[in-house]
Amino acid sequence: MPADLNPIDKAKFIAAKRAVEFVEDGMKLGLGTGSTAAWMVRCLAERIREEGLRVVGVPTSSRTAELAASLGIRLSTLDDVKWLDLTIDGADEFDPNLNLIKGGGAALLQEKIVATASDQMIVIADAAKEVVQLGAFPLPVEVIPFGWQTTKALVEETLVSMDVLGRDVTLRMNGDKPLVTDEANYILDLHLNRIGNARQLALVLNQIPGVVENGLFIDICDIVVIGHADGRASVRDINTGRVEDDRVDFAPSDNIFADLE
Ligand code: A5P
Repeated sequence: MPADLNPIDKAKFIAAKRAVEFVEDGMKLGLGTGSTAAWMVRCLAERIREEGLRVVGVPTSSRTAELAASLGIRLSTLDDVKWLDLTIDGADEFDPNLNLIKGGGAALLQEKIVATASDQMIVIADAAKEVVQLGAFPLPVEVIPFGWQTTKALVEETLVSMDVLGRDVTLRMNGDKPLVTDEANYILDLHLNRIGNARQLALVLNQIPGVVENGLFIDICDIVVIGHADGRASVRDINTGRVEDDRVDFAPSDNIFADLE
């Protein structure tokens, strides 16, 4: 591993490398989005190269599709494969029940569809993503551009009766224009500080016309792999209650960093 990787990237790499050990020959895989998921795509490509694993990946964003294709991972679409064995993805926050906030990378819609269509979802994260209660990270909500300001007003009105600490809602920008998702939608970021009842909020938000999906992943994640910069990986399985601490080999082949150079 290059010495100049910062501790957060090392932790993300360790989580990704440990999670990719769950991949078995012949699996259909959901490939997440974000910086941690990008490490997973690289580690997966390395296993494919070294062990001849035959897997097919369904990417959750154009970014991930591009990276995976460039590393020689065979790709398909959810419509073609219909159901997946395993999805590995990052998260912005996870709580003790492995409920998540996702969408910091604006890919929550495809991520949620893909994760829900998987037998198992593994989240990979550095320890900073662990929270006692969700909500410090602004909750992304994907909305259609048509009438988005009305949708935003309806979201704000809805938040008044919700158990949250903050109620600011902002449109995510890309420079001086609204950020446009892969599905040609906009993202509203809900600055809630603390979400008292994430399950209820997730249901209520999705009932607002114009809301396509929200970034709360409730009862979707099965396992979290937390990476640490010193090479430790903690694996927590919410279904079995199993908690394991492993040490991950720090020395990947240089190939794994080829796309970073
Ligand atoms: C993408 O939309 C997100 O859900 C990411 O998975 C999440 O933001 C985590 O990203 P990082 O791994 O870059 O922190």
